[in-house]
Amino acid sequence: MAANILRAGSLFSSASNKAVRAVFSASLQLHTTGPAMQVQQGDFEKAKDQLKLLKADPGNEVKLKLYALFKQATQGPCKVPKPGMLDFVNKAKWDAWNSLGSLSKDNAKETYINLVSSLVSSESKTQGNADSSGSPHDYETLQVITEDNITKIIFNRPEKKNAISTTMYNEIIQALDKASKDDSTVTVLTGKGDYYCSGNDLNNFAEATPDSREKRARDGAVLLEKFVNGFIDFPKPLIAVVNGPAVGISVTLLGMFDIVYATDKATFHTPFSQLGQSPEGCSSYTFPKIMGCSKANEMLLFNKKLTSTQACDQGLVTEVFPDSTFQSQVSNRIKAYAQLPKESLAFSKQLIRGMEKEKLHAVNSLECERLVERWLSDECMNAILSFFQNKARL
Ligand code: COA
Repeated sequence: MAANILRAGSLFSSASNKAVRAVFSASLQLHTTGPAMQVQQGDFEKAKDQLKLLKADPGNEVKLKLYALFKQATQGPCKVPKPGMLDFVNKAKWDAWNSLGSLSKDNAKETYINLVSSLVSSESKTQGNADSSGSPHDYETLQVITEDNITKIIFNRPEKKNAISTTMYNEIIQALDKASKDDSTVTVLTGKGDYYCSGNDLNNFAEATPDSREKRARDGAVLLEKFVNGFIDFPKPLIAVVNGPAVGISVTLLGMFDIVYATDKATFHTPFSQLGQSPEGCSSYTFPKIMGCSKANEMLLFNKKLTSTQACDQGLVTEVFPDSTFQSQVSNRIKAYAQLPKESLAFSKQLIRGMEKEKLHAVNSLECERLVERWLSDECMNAILSFFQNKARL
């Protein structure tokens, strides 16, 4: 908490911040004028534990108040020397503690308990509101967790190698939209199980009857375009944590992420021509830009599967980690990133990506148009049929 107190702006809505301020000043007034009450040590300990469970960052102003009250409650009035002018963080903390003057330990404890309680109830109200508009826990194909300023969207169909079904496309669109508006600083996509993602669920095509095929292809393209737009327009830093092999659209989309971390067990495969299809996820534009035309052609035209190291050498992956330490190293790295000033990160991302947006939307639209034609082609139908026939033979 202390390391962050200079971050600009609170993550709480101004309404809930006002409520917190009201609790704080009302409690202080009450306790500086009223009789001191004997506060149960148990309640104080409980409040300390509840504070650790808060998901949203309460903002610097509130964190300073909590710090000051905690010090006053446990050590009494501030008697330590004032830090120097340039020691910004410790000076802000000292000022907050010193401002409590001679407030008694019991009164400080009770104000601390009330403040934590108001934060907990404000958070549960926020979650209650989120629940009524579609709870993040309601996803069928994803797990979404928000903590430590990070929203983690986890592909959760490990038994199907996290293939993206129609439901999953829709749920990712919804989860990205929520993540773009929530209090988190960065958003992470990763996979559950041994695969990152095996790409488009081929059942999305196989289930179509000859009569419904054209409509299905058109609906599929509308959905795909909307899905990819969610990545093009995503306003916060987006990090892919590639925990295993990645296939198809899960690879092509990587050009839209701001950072891509991969385990050394991951591979990157875009077998489009093998399936009678064509590139999506704006990769027909981003891949040549990232790795140069001829390397992009090896992947997008000729299905070359890259190892993590090759993908890193070609600029598609930011850094590769040994599988045994992948999760812990990457998690520590992202937790540190998520402590950086949220708005500065978002604005910087917009500066880096903003110029490209129009272009990317145009590319996305063209790619989806081409895919409608590809999905209806004999080349594609035959390739998908043979995938399922080969499986049936096994
Ligand atoms: N679409 C539909 N089902 C998929 C899938 C996909 N993209 N990827 C995996 N699955 C399913 C398999 O059909 C299998 O289902 P089952 O248990 O009901 O038979 C299950 O996931 C496990 O996959 P399996 O093939 O048994 O595992 P594997 O380790 O032998 O092979 C893959 C994994 C990913 C290499 C292989 O499943 C594959 O080639 N999938 C297709 C990938 C693809 O072409 N994606 C589209 C790119 S555009």
